[in-house]
Amino acid sequence: MIENRKFQFSINEQAQSFAKVYLVFDRTALTGIPFTENEAAYVLKQFEENELVVVNRYDELILIAFADPLKEQGVFQEQCRKRGNEISGILCKEKISGVDIFVPAVHPQTSIALAEGLALGSYQFVKYQSATTKKRWNLEKINFVGTEVSENEMDTLAVVIEAVFIARDLVNEPASHLNAVKLAESFEAMGKMAGFSTEVFHKDKIEALKMGGLLAVNLGSIDPPTFTVMEWNPADAKNSKPIVLVGKGVVFDTGGLSLKPTKDSMDYMKCDMAGSAVVASVMYFAAKCKLPLHLIGLVPSTDNRPDGNAYAPGDVIYMHSGQTVEVLNTDAEGRLILADALSYAKDYQPQLVIDVATLTGSAAMAIGQYGIVGMGNADVQTFNGLKQSGENVYERVVEFPLWEEYGESIKSDIADMKNIGAREGGAISAGMFLAKFVDYPWIHLDIAGPAFINAADHYRTKGGTASGVRLLIDFLRGLA
Ligand code: BES
Ligand code: MN
Ligand code: ZN
Repeated sequence: MIENRKFQFSINEQAQSFAKVYLVFDRTALTGIPFTENEAAYVLKQFEENELVVVNRYDELILIAFADPLKEQGVFQEQCRKRGNEISGILCKEKISGVDIFVPAVHPQTSIALAEGLALGSYQFVKYQSATTKKRWNLEKINFVGTEVSENEMDTLAVVIEAVFIARDLVNEPASHLNAVKLAESFEAMGKMAGFSTEVFHKDKIEALKMGGLLAVNLGSIDPPTFTVMEWNPADAKNSKPIVLVGKGVVFDTGGLSLKPTKDSMDYMKCDMAGSAVVASVMYFAAKCKLPLHLIGLVPSTDNRPDGNAYAPGDVIYMHSGQTVEVLNTDAEGRLILADALSYAKDYQPQLVIDVATLTGSAAMAIGQYGIVGMGNADVQTFNGLKQSGENVYERVVEFPLWEEYGESIKSDIADMKNIGAREGGAISAGMFLAKFVDYPWIHLDIAGPAFINAADHYRTKGGTASGVRLLIDFLRGLA
């Protein structure tokens, strides 16, 4: 069920392939690249206008990539990823299967970033294309030439790529092939592959746990809900209390009886489980790279549809926490299933909980596809760490406030709260709703903007982007 296209990464003193990449940090001087005088003149001329120059020697394809070290560190690395992606496009067109990256003596990390962009940009979702329509990328081998990158950095990169590809595959998988049960089975398969444990709660257990939010959203579905618990608890864990990751696993969101009202707004709602894909892929990374942290992953999952027994506006439901919610819009389903998971997370007495969810159109409206909206009650240091990771991997986080006043709009006349608030600041009232179910340090990440894109944004390929995977991996590595 979980397939993976793996790259063969290697480190060698000699180049291995027809295609060779050099990184330069000064567009006016080419040191250390064995060019003829004519070639050097050509490249320097090209660099006046371009950041990537190609010299085709017929027995060798040389690609020279420029990145500007005077930029902020995060931007500098991102430029390298973008160059990598451009190179990936060229290699694909030329049907080239291997590439050498010459590790520069200064800024050797740029070669890792370039390889990352190269690999991530070559992602494709071709599962449902028959042989005739399939256009396959041929790139298989990425070789670092030089001694300045370590085996460990290379191996880590390889797993980051795997984790991102798995998350993208899951998001791109249509709901016709991925209901809540299948999603949970995918997580089990990932657990087996990477070495984390999984337990899937089925409907009877979910009922016994009184997860009323998840059960209410599931009422309109002909498929049962699932609740997956993933755990990675190595002997050398640095944290005594676990870090819990919670992911929204709505495999398809029609809006339910409050059917999605606007044109096209339902078209890509297979992406509404992106948060859960992020969580499972981060668990996959942690286990595969033996990260010394105790981590728990929680995923409530169902589809959200109208049907004879579907939950309806005006309904009052009992949540796992015992609180009551007046449902005034069945399209605000994500917060209902997340609330049950956040409340379940209390049992772990966690050090920190981070939830990841395609939660509101409002977050996407506010900042678009280039950032993640974050909010929560975690301390400044934790938030700053996460924001720094965002800059490092270029999955940037913008913090929204959870001011008390925003809580006004989710007050209900007949229950403890209602599931929608004011139209203005909708991402925040969703956050205020979730805040009612936590009693521990917590960060909520709304990835509705970047999770799924309709045109490629450099190495963030069209469709599921896996946004949040690299962010959380970088953040957790920082803690470990
Ligand atoms: N899954 C959607 C949010 C979403 C929108 C994700 C666009 C990805 C792209 C969520 O369940 C939803 O429908 N939210 C509503 C909430 C509203 C009814 C309070 C929204 O944002 O419109
Ligand atoms: Mn919805
Ligand atoms: Zn949704």
